Amino acid sequence: GLRKKEVNVLCLGLDNSGKTTIINHLKPTNPTGSFGPLSEDWKHVSQTQTQDIVPTIGFNIEKFKSSSLSFTVFDMSGQSRYRNLWEHYYKESHAIIFVIDSGDQLRMVVAKEELDNLLSHQDIRSRRMPVLFFANKMDLRDALSSVKVSQLLCLENIKDKPWHICASDAVKGEGIQEGVDWLQDHIK
Ligand code: GTP
Ligand code: MG
Repeated sequence: GLRKKEVNVLCLGLDNSGKTTIINHLKPTNPTGSFGPLSEDWKHVSQTQTQDIVPTIGFNIEKFKSSSLSFTVFDMSGQSRYRNLWEHYYKESHAIIFVIDSGDQLRMVVAKEELDNLLSHQDIRSRRMPVLFFANKMDLRDALSSVKVSQLLCLENIKDKPWHICASDAVKGEGIQEGVDWLQDHIK
């Protein structure tokens, strides 16, 4: 049959924002993954697994397939000491997932700083690559809405790339499918 197009996706964002928890939902080893709906039967399994997720050291590489694409995701550590690794993977990436902790209002300015660094980088600046934002942890009582997050990050200033923001709860797996569907439709 037809070979699926191979795409590299870079998953970025501050430490503790939920990157690994999000990617975990897309992995075929996770029964809730493989782009299937999160069925009631598997919710407890998914929650057990999310408790096992530890802060990423350096980065992890994960692979999964959708109907038309074969994804390789670089799940980077968001800790400040590892953020200098990010730029080494910009050139070979076809799309970016940028995850924000909607409940971490104190560090929203740090998230914006890292996003601005990313978007102005020479390997990203001139390219029309899709950027998917997850306003994650929408379940938290004091979580900002995705509209508020996009205002604080000044996303409307992004003119040269298709972008989209989804509110998500990565522990329950909510909002992730919508985001990845968008990403799939916008990767050339
Ligand atoms: P680094 O690897 O250190 O960069 O962090 P990360 O962005 O990969 O975050 P990770 O997925 O490890 O999640 C950090 C913590 O947030 C974990 O305790 C998760 O269970 C929790 N978490 C992730 N997503 C959500 C969410 O949507 N809601 C809530 N309440 N907690 C979440
Ligand atoms: Mg991680």
